[in-house]
Amino acid sequence: MVCLGNICRSPLAEGILRHQAKEQNLAVEVDSCGTANYHVGDKPDTRSIKKANEYGIDISHLRGRQFHLSDFDFFDWIYVMDKSNYENIIALARNQQDKQKVKLILNEISNNNNEVPDPYYGGEDGFEQVYQLLNDACKQIIKKLKNDE
Ligand code: 4NP
Repeated sequence: MVCLGNICRSPLAEGILRHQAKEQNLAVEVDSCGTANYHVGDKPDTRSIKKANEYGIDISHLRGRQFHLSDFDFFDWIYVMDKSNYENIIALARNQQDKQKVKLILNEISNNNNEVPDPYYGGEDGFEQVYQLLNDACKQIIKKLKNDE
């Protein structure tokens, strides 16, 4: 799960996907990171921690890290939140195989290249919207992974 800062959207996505995978008894390695290094080592934004808590998910132990080239080797799929994240990660891809791993996460729900809006500068409502979008997208990801089992 990749966003810009790795404190608002992608830690929430990581928590949600992990939670759903556990509920479904699905063994899956999940992690998140940012394209930028502003928040390396930081906890998720308090508003993301609070939103996750409202839905019974604890993400308070997560810490920010920046995307690393080795992520292309370790992970099967790299879900990005918006088009800017997409461009930044694609620019780092070393080959076609790397590029094929990178997906806009909301394309799991509808193939319209929709983006998960950055809630950083907005109010609490933005975090609820982000939660709902990610929850729906993660359900689809779980379905896909179960079919691949
Ligand atoms: P995120 O949100 O990419 O969802 O973690 C942001 C967090 C921090 C900043 C921008 C977006 N920032 O500019 O510090």
